Amino acid sequence: MTKIFFAATSMLALTLAAPTLVKAADTPAIALSVDTTQAGARIDRHIFGQFAEHLGTGVYGGIWVGPDSPIPNTRGIRNDVVAALKAIKVPDVRWPGGCYADNYHWRDGIGPKRNARVNTSWGGVIDSNDFGTEEYMDFLDQIGADAYVSVNVGSGTVKEAADWTEYMTASQPTALEQERAQNGHPAPYKVPFLGIGNESWDCGGLMTPEEYSDQMRLYGRFVNNFNADAPMQKIAVGPGGDDTTWTDTVMKTWKERHGWSFDISGMSLHSYTVFEGWPPHMAATGFDEQGYANVLGETLKMGPLIDKQSAVMDKYDPDKKVSLVVDEWGAWYAKTPGSHDGFLAQQNSQRDAVLAALNLNIFARRADRVRMANIAQMINVLQAMILTDGPKMVLTPTYHVFHMYVPFQDATFIPVKYDAGSYTKGAVPLPRLDAIAAKGTDGKIWLSLTNLDPNQPLEVDASALGFKAKSATGQTLTAPKLDTVNDFDHPDAVTPKPISATGKNGALVLKLPPESVTVVELD
Ligand code: AHR
Repeated sequence: MTKIFFAATSMLALTLAAPTLVKAADTPAIALSVDTTQAGARIDRHIFGQFAEHLGTGVYGGIWVGPDSPIPNTRGIRNDVVAALKAIKVPDVRWPGGCYADNYHWRDGIGPKRNARVNTSWGGVIDSNDFGTEEYMDFLDQIGADAYVSVNVGSGTVKEAADWTEYMTASQPTALEQERAQNGHPAPYKVPFLGIGNESWDCGGLMTPEEYSDQMRLYGRFVNNFNADAPMQKIAVGPGGDDTTWTDTVMKTWKERHGWSFDISGMSLHSYTVFEGWPPHMAATGFDEQGYANVLGETLKMGPLIDKQSAVMDKYDPDKKVSLVVDEWGAWYAKTPGSHDGFLAQQNSQRDAVLAALNLNIFARRADRVRMANIAQMINVLQAMILTDGPKMVLTPTYHVFHMYVPFQDATFIPVKYDAGSYTKGAVPLPRLDAIAAKGTDGKIWLSLTNLDPNQPLEVDASALGFKAKSATGQTLTAPKLDTVNDFDHPDAVTPKPISATGKNGALVLKLPPESVTVVELD
């Protein structure tokens, strides 16, 4: 029988801003220990990267409104979006695609006169090219993020890409450097990440792994960085899902190169959470508990998938020089009813907040190989951080998870031990608890705890080895319903609430609300 009691108990003082009444857990507390005497890999901040493609209203409307817009903007870039993105410390933004990257010709988007083109990747709409290289770099500057530029392999040439990187990064007085200066930016841009194509096995040209490897050799050799202040890491196209033949061929090509010929620092992996295959048909809202469990069960396949691909990489790269870059991930549902077919618009619920935390934890546990990831996509597309409609803007539950996880950026992974328990719905068994810990760059110990069970709160009895925790303070994100969303009329339906606990004898009991994500700092 479910008991109801007030949150404060003899052992702890737990304060949730609202509600103050918390249902007692019907299940026993889970003991969790954080071993602060051990240190794992650095959780690279680029694991929290974003992706902004010329797709739907992801760029036009979501970022770019133009300098003459009544929507408050700085040089055409909306101020509300910039402020929101600064708060989550976006480390990098992958641009201009996606599939669009293999249709993009950079000269259409520089200088005073832009060439409008049809966006043949997404919706057949006109792309004005008003948002081009200069605007992208300005946007990055405004939010404090690094560039991750994907060059066109599918319908471009090695020379076109080589010219673009020279245009962006040259500091000596070459013709392209001078053209950039005439376009308003004498100083070279920094391009720390360069993607060599996108999904070359599919929308990027339906290449075989051997055909792509030929391209990788050429782009890797001839597309160069000229900005000595900012080394460039080149990222090759990796597999979609569990195709290990692709991974094997790309990694073998890399391994067999001559030292001076070319190099890559990363290989991508694309894997979306799509329940029961393509085309995505799960609704983003209006689902039941089974729909919640199905999607979370699906998303947890990311861990074994990374392990499978990493094992192939290990064959050629046991020292893990080449990062696995999960530069497209997230939930992909049926489009929002009534929205444009090619715009990939979808709402974002508490289920997606839990899904985001589970994936970030998966990446953090594998931080020795996964040093970058980019959720798809930043604004108005797929599992977005932000939704906009004209002047209106709302932050999604996924945004709040990224905000809560800021202390994990560049933190050092610390092992945690716990028995995850289980929550099962229909044929889908899930862990009840998912947790990671890390030592932040602030020197503090941070703990993330996700209660997957949508019906029960969960008590976690946390203790730390090598450290006497007296209190835990932080935030918890939960919602009244599994599919609660933030919309323009209810922008704060899902927002983090404060949570804290005080401990006795070094142990702290935290009561996690159902279907919640909690991040606390241990003191
Ligand atoms: O994110 C949407 C699309 O999904 C990207 O353009 C493509 O790379 C992937 O198939």
